[in-house]
Amino acid sequence: MMRGGMNTYRIAVLAGDGIGPEVMEQALRVLDAVEKKFGFATERAACHVGGAGIDHCGKALPAETLAACEAADAILFGSVGGPKWDALPPDERPERGALLPLRKHFSLYANLRPGICMPELVGASPLKDSLIQSGFDILCVRELTGGMYFGEPKFYGERNGETVALDTLVYKKSEVERIARVAFQAARGRRGKLCSVDKANVLSSSVMWRDVMNAIAPEFPDVQLSHMYVDNAAMQLVRNPQQFDVMVTENTFGDILTDEMAMICGSLGMLPSASLCRGNGESFFGLYEPSGGSAPDIAGQGIANPIAQILSMGMMLRYTCRETAAADAVDAAVRRVIAAGYRTGDLATGAPGETRVGTSGMGDAIIAAL
Ligand code: IPM
Ligand code: MG
Repeated sequence: MMRGGMNTYRIAVLAGDGIGPEVMEQALRVLDAVEKKFGFATERAACHVGGAGIDHCGKALPAETLAACEAADAILFGSVGGPKWDALPPDERPERGALLPLRKHFSLYANLRPGICMPELVGASPLKDSLIQSGFDILCVRELTGGMYFGEPKFYGERNGETVALDTLVYKKSEVERIARVAFQAARGRRGKLCSVDKANVLSSSVMWRDVMNAIAPEFPDVQLSHMYVDNAAMQLVRNPQQFDVMVTENTFGDILTDEMAMICGSLGMLPSASLCRGNGESFFGLYEPSGGSAPDIAGQGIANPIAQILSMGMMLRYTCRETAAADAVDAAVRRVIAAGYRTGDLATGAPGETRVGTSGMGDAIIAAL
């Protein structure tokens, strides 16, 4: 919306638990700086979520938090969970009690997870330098509201004198079509290669997945589509990650492959994500969050890497606000501070030329680089 002649975006800020609040603080400082530079504004509503929601309001996703998200153009999310709440029943725990309902409530079906290993950070990856040379840049598009996570029936109990547990892997054709189009579109804006990951040698849902991908492909003649079984994809990621441009896959496979992808990038502290649902026209409603989690072991010490949170804010500028120049500037500033040698503990290798910084020091460096 316009306010005082300026594009103004409403953001629900859900910092959450662990390192969430401290990395969020840096992302908001960087947002202040890009707003000034690029001439737009945000209205921010800070809300409790996760363990903080449980402690303050008795629920991981309090009603007032959900209401603030509904009133917003985007949700900027920190991270949730920690040992304090681990004894709660699984459905009430911060991770499942907040994230899954948010995804379902807002139909956030398209989860974009970039896996970028910058050339300067090759040494931080557990893969041999010889396997990744100049780094890599993969985008995983994970379907986020279907498959086994939400499929019915679900059951855990007694049947005919035996304990039985059951999950259902179900997809509708329309659900696969819409995620396919997001992935093809993304590949079109990058190197034009899309690898669809499935288990079509075993699962019916994967046979349909593959059929749908092939059926959509002619809409995107400029994108080269390939298919790979998920077990092979897990292997290829550690054998030759440079072969991938965009990967698209169903919910559970995407959960597993994106953790693997994050690991080989060197540090979880670098990876943003966007969970999107198509809004009006070109713009998406989205939830933007770091891939890394709440890292309770290092929370409150001022040493966490804020880059994943800052890049998540940048993805918000790109996909919800359509402030492309500002989003590009955030990405470029991060690349510049990495190239200049600034390193939080997770990235440091002790190589000459590195400057060790804490959470706010990294924020300062990125703001200066803007
Ligand atoms: C993720 C997480 C979540 C998932 C958990 C916390 C429910 O692992 O975002 O990848 O499985 O989707
Ligand atoms: Mg996961």
